[in-house]
Amino acid sequence: MAKRNPSFVCQSCGAVYNRWKGKCEACGGWNTIGEETGSASPMVGPVATRPSRAKGRVFALEGLAGETREAPRTPSGIAEFDRVTGGGFVRGSVILIGGDPGIGKSTLLIQASAALAARGARVAYISGEEAVAQVRLRAERLGLAGAPVELAAETNVEDIVTTLSQGPAPALAIIDSIQTMWTETVESAPGTVTQVRGSAQALIRFAKTHGTAVILVGHVTKDGQIAGPRVVEHMVDAVISFEGDTGHHFRILRGIKNRFGPTDEIGVFEMSDRGLTEVANPSELFLAGRDLATAGTAVFAGMEGTRPLLVEVQALVAPSSLGTPRRAVVGWDPSRLSMVLAVLEAHGGLRLGQHDVYLNVAGGLRISEPAADLAAAAALVSSLSGAPLPPDTVYFGELGLSGAIRPVAQAPARLKEAAKLGFLHAVAPAPRGDSRERLALSPTPMSHVADLVAAIASSRPRQRTALPNR
Ligand code: TYD
Ligand code: MG
Repeated sequence: MAKRNPSFVCQSCGAVYNRWKGKCEACGGWNTIGEETGSASPMVGPVATRPSRAKGRVFALEGLAGETREAPRTPSGIAEFDRVTGGGFVRGSVILIGGDPGIGKSTLLIQASAALAARGARVAYISGEEAVAQVRLRAERLGLAGAPVELAAETNVEDIVTTLSQGPAPALAIIDSIQTMWTETVESAPGTVTQVRGSAQALIRFAKTHGTAVILVGHVTKDGQIAGPRVVEHMVDAVISFEGDTGHHFRILRGIKNRFGPTDEIGVFEMSDRGLTEVANPSELFLAGRDLATAGTAVFAGMEGTRPLLVEVQALVAPSSLGTPRRAVVGWDPSRLSMVLAVLEAHGGLRLGQHDVYLNVAGGLRISEPAADLAAAAALVSSLSGAPLPPDTVYFGELGLSGAIRPVAQAPARLKEAAKLGFLHAVAPAPRGDSRERLALSPTPMSHVADLVAAIASSRPRQRTALPNR
């Protein structure tokens, strides 16, 4: 069934249509559909065009129990990277790394390649974006020029696969980036969804047959999605995003999908003039330069995967001059802020309808845990009342719509980290059940948001704005 008709492919999600449309019905994107001719496989997904056989082969089916071996891994030598991959690169696995341009993907990967190559592994770095001289220049600046990394500037996937198949299979091959690659098996222009999918397919096949771990660098669109077809995300074994704010020095490596390890771990790096350096204790970094005496800041004892992470949550509540007051959030979910504000109004007695509210997670970190509710609420109440929170206290807990403060997971680890960094008190929900675990800090149990408001308002009766009258 050699279909040579033109097909119309959505460039953001990979959906295929037989005529042009203004709006993609699959992803809702406008003007994302482009014509592509000669696509070898108009099918969505990693289904390769295999000649159909009349009769299938019989294969053995097995039970769930049985002997298994731990996937063989090659640690990169960068501990923060290995934490995210789950202990190193699995042989024959493919990792997609996405991130904004200029965030430091190439820097991180050249550092990982050099670290691995210096330990004797064969590592190939294929750049489709930069000339060899540019990559060399960067390596020189990072003091890595001596590492035996095999470097090339190539974009043709068949050439790359043929070259890498010579000699012993590389332990790691880096393709920077998948959007610049093109394969002869597909006729569309480089950068189109069909090309990206075809190239990824060929490289994944290479990884599986040779046992090489392949890292694909992927571009990211304005709204943070990895550009190109989402199907590439489904085809690879792991998807990792490298994020950070160009205004801040630190960068976060975050697992999004991982067939061989955890997805909730983060790796923290700091960008310096010597490249990316690992940050082994991120809490210290995020709390550095904290303003202790001002109202509106609370320290949140959070968790990122298995690692506790302390960050400062800052709030500013100010009388509004607008008809509809502003609500702005950086680093947290805006709908969670709306919910916390509604709970504070309904159950804490606060009146915020005439106030602008700004909430910021210091340092540019993005937190997604519901456990941050209590810290955000404390910062908001503190800012509204003008009463600074005690500087030696951390906050964590989830707010329910009823105003109840609900227990969250991993409280002992959060308290331990807080104690380690010199905090003396914690405001948190009462520990769950009958766990009589010895805690590093014994939290001041708080079960309702009204108690929180009362505690903060009574701490320093410097009334700046009207606080609740109950
Ligand atoms: P790069 O790795 O090229 O980003 P990406 O591949 O994600 O597009 O990173 C480039 C940025 O990093 C650039 O703005 C300069 C900065 N940088 C440093 O600050 N220090 C360094 O040692 C290096 C190599 C880059
Ligand atoms: Mg780059």
